[in-house]
Amino acid sequence: MRGNPVVPSWHPGAGCGAPSGAGAGTGRVRARFALFVGTCAGDTDAHGDDPTHPGPAGDRVSDTAGFYDDLAGTYDRLHSDWELTVMTAGRTLDALLRRVLGDREHRLLDCAAGIGTQVLGAARHGHQVAGTDLSVGALRRARAEAGRTGVPAPLVVADMRRLPYADGSFDAVICADNAIAHLLADGELELALGEMRRVLRDGGLVVVTLRDYDLLSRERPPVLPTHVSHGEHGLLLTVPVCEWSADGTRYLLRQLQLAEQPGGGWVTAERRVLCRAYGRAQVREAAERAGLGGARWVMPTEGFFYQPVLLATRHPAPRPEVRNPAGAAASGRAASPWRP
Ligand SMILES: C[S@@+](CC[C@H](N)C(=O)[O-])C[C@H]1O[C@@H](n2cnc3c(N)ncnc32)[C@H](O)[C@@H]1O
Repeated sequence: MRGNPVVPSWHPGAGCGAPSGAGAGTGRVRARFALFVGTCAGDTDAHGDDPTHPGPAGDRVSDTAGFYDDLAGTYDRLHSDWELTVMTAGRTLDALLRRVLGDREHRLLDCAAGIGTQVLGAARHGHQVAGTDLSVGALRRARAEAGRTGVPAPLVVADMRRLPYADGSFDAVICADNAIAHLLADGELELALGEMRRVLRDGGLVVVTLRDYDLLSRERPPVLPTHVSHGEHGLLLTVPVCEWSADGTRYLLRQLQLAEQPGGGWVTAERRVLCRAYGRAQVREAAERAGLGGARWVMPTEGFFYQPVLLATRHPAPRPEVRNPAGAAASGRAASPWRP
């Protein structure tokens, strides 16, 4: 499927939530919704002035798994050309792994695999991949995509804070596209990074990508770029609306989708999830506390990826040198992002 984001570049209005721990299927009312025809589930009043506060209803607005279960069917349409994004992600990851870890195939875990954007791309380059994610729906879709393209990738539902693998099982762990923003509570980020470290062999590499929250939490934009996708039955617009906390450290993502109907009408839906706007220093410090060494951020201006990327190793080894792993220009706009 194809689409044309109104503002290209920085994608998934999708991501940003907070796994509330128990996540999906606990019997709590879920954040997912599917509210239709012009109705928005506006009950933020219950949270007083701060829409990012879970409030008396508990964490129902932060059911990350439910959010992504609902989104799985149209997740690819947040990309202008998801197939191309998968290919670019694979090529970029392959170049990165070979450059940092050695010119051979590697064992890679994607601990926020979603519908498979990175893990399926890397598998196409011969790496031995595994994918985990909190969302059953996203992984179901990833399995279908893997089957459709004949790519072998074991995909298992798991929380990145408790990875179901033995110590030292992988050469690299990736956690891409804002997934850590779903770790809301203090200490959860460190816990997840500690798990990524645990399943790595000595010298293994952690790759985390995140929105530029140093900027966003200062500017607190009420809406992020809209994605416009032209599907079989018409347009699908995805509008990520953000309601920020007063201190800019969290926001409620209200993702609106407007789908054009074959008869010409529109159906609207809204899904919500809480997000934590981690600053880069905060993530680097959490990585260090989790026992990862050489942590450094690679910025989009370095031509690697459209989001800032954290690289760190299981041992305090020399800092991974990553400039232009896919042969892109070293300055200016990102020329070799995982998305086109
Ligand atoms: C924006 S999506 C990115 C998915 C994929 N990396 C991609 O780029 O297509 C973020 C993903 O993180 C997953 N996620 C959030 N919290 C998680 C957790 N605690 N453990 C595992 N996955 C989690 C979500 O289910 C979602 O699939």
